[in-house]
Amino acid sequence: MLNLMTHNTSRFDDKIALITGGTSGMGLATARRLLSEGAHVIVTGRDKDRLDDAAGHLRTEFPQAEAAQRILAVRGDVANRADLDTLTDAIRTRYGRLDVLFANAGVAEFAPVADVTEEAFDRLVNINFKGVYFTVQQSLPLLSDGSAIVINASVVVHKGVPGATLYSATKGAVHNLTRTLAADLSPRRIRVNSVSPGYITTPMFHANVSLEAQPAVVATVAAGRFGAPDDIAAAVAFLSSQEASYINGQDLLIDGGMIAATPAAMH
Ligand SMILES: NC(=O)c1ccc[n+]([C@@H]2O[C@H](COP(=O)([O-])OP(=O)(O)OC[C@H]3O[C@@H](n4cnc5c(N)ncnc54)[C@H](OP(=O)(O)O)[C@@H]3O)[C@@H](O)[C@H]2O)c1
Repeated sequence: MLNLMTHNTSRFDDKIALITGGTSGMGLATARRLLSEGAHVIVTGRDKDRLDDAAGHLRTEFPQAEAAQRILAVRGDVANRADLDTLTDAIRTRYGRLDVLFANAGVAEFAPVADVTEEAFDRLVNINFKGVYFTVQQSLPLLSDGSAIVINASVVVHKGVPGATLYSATKGAVHNLTRTLAADLSPRRIRVNSVSPGYITTPMFHANVSLEAQPAVVATVAAGRFGAPDDIAAAVAFLSSQEASYINGQDLLIDGGMIAATPAAMH
């Protein structure tokens, strides 16, 4: 649980932040983090019950009336343009603008290339690439000049991983999009960066890494542990803040050193 007393409470005062896929994992942790630092936060997700649960938890964790009013939950699928219209209309009506966008919603599926179906291809491309692309495009009229976009890519952008041809390609696409958008949006001084998380203990992680596999997997991480959603939330908050005002078009690997450093015990 986040210790609210330890955080600088002014970095996001009066800032409006949209977090797609804000109902679990890194998105929910980032919602908590930005709320704790004063932001108004809009969270989204496809599943109405999970969305209501997440919004309910956040309102319980931030019971002050003023803080509870800083949470807006909007159901929607990022792969669906009509849902994105509903989302941006809701933000326009309530706030009239956005200062931070964390394009985080994504799904993972792993299979050998020979087994990847066209349906799986369309599903992952539609959510992980098209979803991010049009979330950004449709947010542009709301994003204030000088605002910050952070895109959730993945460590797989930096390393070939078996069974990840499809997932990695979608993350490679948004990794590239980050730099191109930073160029495209430079006239409006909108900064665009990505984060590339390693193994982060979210529902997605637990669905893909079995308990039996975990000791061998964690042995590849120099930090000696899996990442927590709060590790990513802290980095997204930094990249979205004024403290990162000269960081643009970058990808930040947050993987406990998995790519950069071979753990001594493995040598
Ligand atoms: N966990 C890891 O180790 C890891 C590592 C690298 C990168 N990532 C990336 O990090 C991001 C967050 O993942 P996570 O691990 O925090 O996963 P998670 O706990 O499964 O959360 C994913 C969130 O995205 C939402 N979502 C999924 N598809 C959506 C769609 N089409 N439209 C709107 N919302 C959607 C989910 O809600 P609904 O299902 O209700 O829609 C949920 O709120 C993803 O982009 C993932 O690829 C994860």
